[in-house]
Amino acid sequence: MIPIIDLLEQRVSSVLSELTGNPAPAVVRPSNNPKFGDYQANGVMGQAKKAKQNPRQLAEQVIAKLDVSEMCEPPQIAGPGFINFRLRPEWLSRQVSQAITDSQRLGIDPLADPPVTVVDFSSPNLAKEMHVGHLRSTIIGDVIARVLEFWYDAPEKIIRQNHVGDWGTQFGMLIAYIKRTHPEAIDDPTAFQIADLESFYQQAKKLFDDDATFKQEAYHETVALHNNEQATLKAWKYVVAESRTHCQKVYDQLNVRLNKDNERGESSYNDRLPDVIKDLHNAGMLVESDGAQCVFMDQYKNKDGDVLPLIVQKSDGAFLYATTDLAAVRYRTGDLKAQRIIYVTDARQKLHFDMVFSCARKAGWASEDITLEHVPFGSVQGDDGKPFKTRSGGTVKLKDLLDEAVLRAGDIVNEKNANLDDATKAKIAAAVGVGAVKYADLSNNLVSDYVFDWNKMLAMEGNTAPYMQYAYARVQSIFRKGDIDVDALVHSGHLVNLTEPEELTLGKLLLRYSEVIENVARDLRPHLLTTYLFDLAQAFSSFYANCPVLKAEGPTRTSRLLIAHLTAKTIHHGLSLLGIATIDQM
Ligand code: ARG
Repeated sequence: MIPIIDLLEQRVSSVLSELTGNPAPAVVRPSNNPKFGDYQANGVMGQAKKAKQNPRQLAEQVIAKLDVSEMCEPPQIAGPGFINFRLRPEWLSRQVSQAITDSQRLGIDPLADPPVTVVDFSSPNLAKEMHVGHLRSTIIGDVIARVLEFWYDAPEKIIRQNHVGDWGTQFGMLIAYIKRTHPEAIDDPTAFQIADLESFYQQAKKLFDDDATFKQEAYHETVALHNNEQATLKAWKYVVAESRTHCQKVYDQLNVRLNKDNERGESSYNDRLPDVIKDLHNAGMLVESDGAQCVFMDQYKNKDGDVLPLIVQKSDGAFLYATTDLAAVRYRTGDLKAQRIIYVTDARQKLHFDMVFSCARKAGWASEDITLEHVPFGSVQGDDGKPFKTRSGGTVKLKDLLDEAVLRAGDIVNEKNANLDDATKAKIAAAVGVGAVKYADLSNNLVSDYVFDWNKMLAMEGNTAPYMQYAYARVQSIFRKGDIDVDALVHSGHLVNLTEPEELTLGKLLLRYSEVIENVARDLRPHLLTTYLFDLAQAFSSFYANCPVLKAEGPTRTSRLLIAHLTAKTIHHGLSLLGIATIDQM
């Protein structure tokens, strides 16, 4: 099924193009006010102006030629030349019935011939524990990957890449620390345990900052690491494995699909860095400045108007973050054959990516038909408007944050539903707690900062995960109460019949799901999905308040059960694209 908005766009555009003799987009949008109908074509005015025609007259000609009678009431012209469309209840009913029979895709067509797409996300610097700063890159990237996987319907075309920071001085520091504190472990690092990754890092860092000799040792280990010296490499592998285990626990708790297979850290590009320099040299792009190798691109200037360098190799021969990212672009387009690469990081890295993208294009690693996209996001703040910290002012560990979310959700479950068994309570608490944190994050416009607020995100009312999960559970309880066999219902061949205003509103919203998925996939903005789900849940509430379901009779009852079923399915589907679990009872 083509989204209604696209269907109208195609029909109106083709008539408008025919009338004006030019390709003429209809610019169809959902109506802001249901009084005027469901969709509106805004393209006539622009075309009339171009053709020096009266817009209302052109709109009349369009309507006269347009055949949408099976789906819409007769279109109406409004204002200077808008065309308003109101969908016909019989047509809507048929469409909803059809969506119900497609249990896999809910009537949503996949994108034809989707591009091979790399999604670079999460990508924490290893060696430390993940903190709240990694929340956004991790969950936003996961949602983008999930939405594209569904839209493309070709999982092999989505390549998740966890570009972890597993190389460089912090590792030299940790290895030097192991050598000092557990010299025996350098041959067999597994002989000792890093009890707590974070405190291990803190202790090493303290020594690094306070002790000049240690700093030298750390530097020495960094060089040894980059030169692949065996003992150092062994210790490095151990530290990376410890960090990886830690991250994996967080990913699992977050219900984020990332594992070792998706990891391609900075270290993996080590062998490829000299080629980057060579290519840049051959392209005549390298310039030496204060002993460092740089690329200068005229469009990047500082405040004083001086062209900024993109430094790719320091005077001591060391490579930089940018060099690795250039090698990664080169690998992704060259080896992975990526046609679209998406980077999810905080907004402060915008300039870095702008420069890396320009440099990669200029060097010939990414032709113009390859899309390079940076998806920037704002920060998580405390209620003081400053970066979110613990009460004592420390960084908030992601693991602690999620544990607290589950505890808080558990308290609510205990309060509301004390008689459930413990296992069920724990399951609900995990789904609601983690879901609440994720939903609160994803429901914000990406680029805005937002304030982390437990009470708001765990509220049962408003645009929150618990509200959405409750809406889903409510439908399940209707089915339980009525002892309804959903499969039999769906396959019974009964049709939906939308008649009441609340049924029509809900039906139209259900059919807009495909349009929303397309928008989220195209613009990479998850909050469009949360906004939609919230509207849907509210429309369901008014439907349920005004249209008895179990108490209705005959075909009306069946029709309403089917509508409720599609609503629950859509909520479940939407939440699963957000990586949020649903539960059958709350
Ligand atoms: N490790 C980096 C950081 O913590 C993020 C990496 C993002 N991805 C990339 N290809 N640069 O800031």
